[in-house]
Amino acid sequence: MNTETLEDVVLDRILTLELARVTERAAVAAARLRGRGDEKAADQVAVDAMRKELNALPIEGTVVIGEGERDEAPMLYIGEKVGRKGGGPKVDIALDPLEGTTICAKNLPNSLAVVAIANEGNLLNAPDVYMEKIAIGPGYEAGTVDLDLSPAENMARVAAAKGVSIDQVTACILDRPRHAKIIEEVRQTGAAIRLIGDGDVAGVIHTTDPEETGIDIYMGIGGAPEGVLAAAALRCIGGQMQGRLVINTQQQRDRAIKMGIEDVNKKFDMLEMAKGDVLFAATGVTDGNMLAGVRFGQDSITTHTVVMRSSSHTVRWIKARHRQTDRFS
Ligand code: FBP
Repeated sequence: MNTETLEDVVLDRILTLELARVTERAAVAAARLRGRGDEKAADQVAVDAMRKELNALPIEGTVVIGEGERDEAPMLYIGEKVGRKGGGPKVDIALDPLEGTTICAKNLPNSLAVVAIANEGNLLNAPDVYMEKIAIGPGYEAGTVDLDLSPAENMARVAAAKGVSIDQVTACILDRPRHAKIIEEVRQTGAAIRLIGDGDVAGVIHTTDPEETGIDIYMGIGGAPEGVLAAAALRCIGGQMQGRLVINTQQQRDRAIKMGIEDVNKKFDMLEMAKGDVLFAATGVTDGNMLAGVRFGQDSITTHTVVMRSSSHTVRWIKARHRQTDRFS
């Protein structure tokens, strides 16, 4: 952001770091219910906790990617206004207080508390439908991969751009019957696949550091709201991503149009899903490839968070030790 209005300064200097509090608190709440087999309970406490922190921020925020429509989600529903009373910059918020509810309930890797913020109107208001996605990390020429190319062609392009043989490239794909064909096609190229049970926001983010995560490319169909969150993260760290809604019914089409999407078949680029200056934060709930999960000590709680901003491309890794206080009870 180049113009230094008061609102920009708030977004710039304060919100970037404040966002860590929002995801930390949600992650700690969810982590208390890790491995208990109760997805709903873990999600509910994360939602409550995230909402409290969002309502302490000096913003006039509107949830655009949230827990669902107002009639199906009592809190953090799409359209809900959040922020401390008394003004602040008008921002749109995409959130998932517990991304990977099932992973958390089973205490498996990579469940996260996630939030993204952008100036009003800058986040795609994606309906709760599926989205075809493809993503790679930074350092590739624009257009290296494309949703309209076959999985085999995309794998070959990534291998060529990396300067390695295709058997040294790994794709991350959600383990779902709907992906049987993609999985078969990728395997036929000789490339490897990391099948994940859930959590494709983490799957996309993992493409940004293949040396650490072992993942070069994400492909397949996951939730559209998660697609927008992942696009916001890639805008900050760098990388490429495309997404296209999967619309199967007239009701889904009507919903997408109602949410302001004129062409429901459009192939959205990352920049169209998360425009302008974007802030993103994620805190590990369970241990993951990039973020460790919450650790409960005798008197303290340790969290691991990444906070990033698209305009500066600053990526901050925050390991925080919190005292066990009411705020985290
Ligand atoms: P939840 O956190 O809502 O459980 O979502 C987990 C998730 O795996 C997402 O990461 C992914 O986009 C979506 O579910 C895939 O949907 P489905 O489980 O229907 O294939």
